[in-house]
Amino acid sequence: MTKLINGKEIAQNLRNNLKKEIDILKKNTGKVPGLAVVQVGNVAASSVYVKAKTKSAKEVGIEVIDNHLPEETNQKELLNIIETLNNQANVDGILVQLPLPKHINEQIILDSIHPDKDADGFHPLNVGKLSIASHNDENLLIPCTPYGCLIMLKGLGVELSGKNAVVVGRSNIVGKPMAQLLLKESCTVTIAHSRTKNIEEVCKKADIIVAAVGRPRMIKENWVKKDAIVIDVGINRIEVDIDGEIKNRLVGDVDFNAVSKNAAAITPVPGGVGPMTIACLLRNTMIAFKNSYK
Ligand code: GUN
Repeated sequence: MTKLINGKEIAQNLRNNLKKEIDILKKNTGKVPGLAVVQVGNVAASSVYVKAKTKSAKEVGIEVIDNHLPEETNQKELLNIIETLNNQANVDGILVQLPLPKHINEQIILDSIHPDKDADGFHPLNVGKLSIASHNDENLLIPCTPYGCLIMLKGLGVELSGKNAVVVGRSNIVGKPMAQLLLKESCTVTIAHSRTKNIEEVCKKADIIVAAVGRPRMIKENWVKKDAIVIDVGINRIEVDIDGEIKNRLVGDVDFNAVSKNAAAITPVPGGVGPMTIACLLRNTMIAFKNSYK
């Protein structure tokens, strides 16, 4: 029987625990963690994510400092705003929703966030720490989506050490940090990408596949060996014809219906990785808050 990994439920448990911890911290310190959420422009998908992140943060007791800036905001203006947030006492975490408009250099902005307030774990110092640390230290600010994937994998209770893990996609946000996390679990890790030769064959050898390429239903049934574990990070909006009516649907990077027949465990889209990303952002915000007391 294929196990459906319920990200929604696991994320809810994580948020419940965070809420309890924040309540205790509030009693002890008189303060709550603060998360500055920065969005530039109005990309529809970003607005959806920012809204969901803001709602979840408030529900667990995190104070949200909202900075929704116009599309025309220039790089210098954005850097000035981040500098203010870096020095603002009630801000423990800063999230700059990506992508940024083309006229702003994303890396310069990510570099400008104080590493201790880096709620996404994208600052070079935190990327370096993740790569160097031999285990996933409680104080590390780890990129939210791959960390959410790791929590789901660990929740399965299967031995990860020695497994062949294939990460499909090499982004800084998901693919590269995911590979680092799996390496720390002593997996044998391969990163496959658009130039990988015989990608089907590479995937077919995997005990664990993490798909993060942004290509709807790319991973087919014959790419996945029997009893592999499949984590689908993709969130792709496609149009489908349902009884002659064109409707929008969210699908992952994995051909779910076909692949789920053979997989030992698989995440659905939606309801898999998405809620975990948000829960891990809240976790990072609390870690940043706690680290500020050390
Ligand atoms: N855009 C897509 N995923 C992410 C994420 O995890 N964090 C931020 N800041 N932007 C994103």
